[in-house]
Amino acid sequence: MCRKYDSDIIHLSALGNSIIILDSVKAASDLLEKRSSLYSSRPNQLCLNELVGYVIDVGSHSYNTAQRRHMEISAKNTYKRNLPTDRLEYVSIYKHNGENLLSISRWTTVLITDITYGIQGEEAQPFIKTAIEAVETITIATTPGAFAVDQISILKYVPEWFPGAGFKRKAREWNLLRTKMTEDPFRVTKERMAAGTATPSLASIALEKMDLTKDIAQQEELIKAASVTAHIGGTDTIVVTIASFILAMLMNPDIQTRAQLELDRVLAPGDLPTFSLEPDLPYIQAIIRRHQPVVPLCFPHLVTEDDVYSGYLIPKNSIIMPNVWSILHNEEDYPDPYEFNPSRFLDANGRIDPSVKDIGPAFGFGRRTCPGKELAMASLWIRIASILTCYKIEPEIDEHGNLAERKAEWYPGLTMFNHPLPFKCRFIPRSKDIEASLDMKFT
Ligand code: HEM
Repeated sequence: MCRKYDSDIIHLSALGNSIIILDSVKAASDLLEKRSSLYSSRPNQLCLNELVGYVIDVGSHSYNTAQRRHMEISAKNTYKRNLPTDRLEYVSIYKHNGENLLSISRWTTVLITDITYGIQGEEAQPFIKTAIEAVETITIATTPGAFAVDQISILKYVPEWFPGAGFKRKAREWNLLRTKMTEDPFRVTKERMAAGTATPSLASIALEKMDLTKDIAQQEELIKAASVTAHIGGTDTIVVTIASFILAMLMNPDIQTRAQLELDRVLAPGDLPTFSLEPDLPYIQAIIRRHQPVVPLCFPHLVTEDDVYSGYLIPKNSIIMPNVWSILHNEEDYPDPYEFNPSRFLDANGRIDPSVKDIGPAFGFGRRTCPGKELAMASLWIRIASILTCYKIEPEIDEHGNLAERKAEWYPGLTMFNHPLPFKCRFIPRSKDIEASLDMKFT
């Protein structure tokens, strides 16, 4: 529609909601960054916030003092790249076998549970199970149009037994899951701190830094919220990005081969990549910049006052949706934008070209920008580089013994995350050393 009407800002009206779509970095930055004091709130998702109870966590809350403090805790304590890199390398290397490298979901959740709460390895499993279940409920609750109560708020007063009020029962069950996910790992961190056995984590560092002259209970609530938000924010996003990367490698064998040649040139046989080698592996960096934003419409922002932009009135309480998908497929910045072409990010000498716009918009805008960006980019880099070092990603073999057709299919519905449909492939060890360390076969 933005193209059709030749405008980078359009207004839609749906069930009484005013929705503004922003279709260029300029419009998104002019409003969400330069006027961030007006554009940093979130729409109230009644089902998620009021019924399921995500009031100060999940990045869904409005922008206020508590939220600012919350983001401070997150940004200062967890996500700075220099804190997790040792751990990232550690998690990637500690079990140099297929189970660790290819269990994408498990690796990611173990990593995030460690960084957030200092709970490691097998011990993390029960907390991860709860978090995965809870994240599923958030994905359902935030799918546009999933619950009529988000549009017709009076429905929240309908009793649970009333025909059609199944959403209230669901919300009650999801609320229990939310409480478990929020309370249980946080309690473990606190118990370990009391016993002197805690390893540094977002929660423990923030708890240590509490201002003892101020309200402790209130500070703890915020730290708890910041911790659970990190736990949730860091799981599905990374898992989906890695899955879509594997699919891209399957679909583009030439790009895969070029990346592996780069790795073979830089690494000694049998070694895995480490962050110190990142500057020597620009093609891998370029692959990670591909334009497949996992959150294609960002998370909605809300404008808290009437505003005027480019001659248009933007009414107070409009929902603002930056169209990140379109921004990252913009022909001016990225010629032939739908082609997966990592070389577009490299200069004539094969180094990362700083003049090509990077994928910043995939992590949002202004004060609500994803605080996990650095951690996400670091985890993606080490993970993707390690997988490519160890395995060739190939189609499965069909019943006639031939390579099956390479096919990329994406989830067709409108959900918060853009993710591929399940697909099959083979991970073929690239050396005898890796083959020897495998104790199972992976397809
Ligand atoms: C590929 C990985 C990731 C992508 C693409 C991604 C993307 C995003 C986007 C688009 C937003 C909304 C920004 C906005 O509204 O302007 C967001 C918010 C958020 N992300 Fe991420 N994210 C990723 C990984 C992570 C990780 C690893 C963490 C934590 C460890 C994290 C924590 C958060 C939090 C807490 C918010 C809410 C911020 C707020 O509402 O103020 N994310 N992310």
